[in-house]
Amino acid sequence: MGSGLRGRDLLSMEDLSREEILEILDLASQLKREQRVRRPHRLLRGRTLALIFEKPSLRTRVTLEVAMRQLGGDVVSLTQQDIGLGVRESVADVARNLSRWVDGIAARVFSHRTLEDLARAAEVAVINALSDREHPCQTLADLLTIREKFGTFQGTVVAWVGDGNNVCHSLLLGGVKVGLSLRVATPEGYEPDRTILEAARNYGERTGARILLTHRPEEAVRGAQVVYTDVWTSMGQEAEREKRRRAFAGFQVNEALLAHSPEALVMHCLPAHRGEEITDAVLDGPRSVVLDQAENRLHVQKALLALVLGG
Ligand code: CP
Ligand code: NVA
Repeated sequence: MGSGLRGRDLLSMEDLSREEILEILDLASQLKREQRVRRPHRLLRGRTLALIFEKPSLRTRVTLEVAMRQLGGDVVSLTQQDIGLGVRESVADVARNLSRWVDGIAARVFSHRTLEDLARAAEVAVINALSDREHPCQTLADLLTIREKFGTFQGTVVAWVGDGNNVCHSLLLGGVKVGLSLRVATPEGYEPDRTILEAARNYGERTGARILLTHRPEEAVRGAQVVYTDVWTSMGQEAEREKRRRAFAGFQVNEALLAHSPEALVMHCLPAHRGEEITDAVLDGPRSVVLDQAENRLHVQKALLALVLGG
């Protein structure tokens, strides 16, 4: 396929240039159209992807598996119970062994450092299927969804309401690179990581995209085209659930908050904690595009895998 992405790791949205993000989105749109008319695109015949899951998953696991199969390739799915990553065997040893059998590794891990260790030791590409720091595959799907709905990124404002977490980090980095402006409303102490904000602000200076940080959800939401939220308690933070529920009171995406942006679409990466960060009425309501996002996970990951593992 001749892409500069061939063999490359995707640990962070920092790893992709604006042009590479657009290349993935363009191929995703093409593969989505082809899939709709059942035109086969077996770009990864004979290739195998290993999936490692230290945490549960529905969307990521199903879409990566279906992606490889629709591309004519194969997958092997491994849980922590199967392989004991870093317990039964070092992360580097797992990476070195897998590199002899498969063409790429996608891993969902607790600590981002585990991904970095995997990538350092692996001779094949490593893709972040979610870490405590980032969720780049989600951002690619979100960008495709936003482009489908608005036709453009430039001038589009996304309000992030809730935790400055892994999904927020990737959206900040990837969104600003393609020209989205982001307004991030979090409780005090739950802001996005400072180094990620700094990197995103630097990209924004080049694309004209703006980043606003606030502790007032209404300020973020007013006049935005998209309102995005995610769980207040991410996987691995379960012990903090009660403390977080108290801290995030007032940050629920509900009809009262959405009254500040009557036209905005609502996004959520899912799974949702219904009744916490978002109400049933909003999640299931006419403005919600959460299932389009979930569907687009498949199409963008097919494009990503075709470009990284193909050729
Ligand atoms: N959005 C997402 O990554 O979903 P899963 O945790 O179900 O994979
Ligand atoms: N922030 C959430 C995203 C799940 C897809 C988590 O890490 O649990």
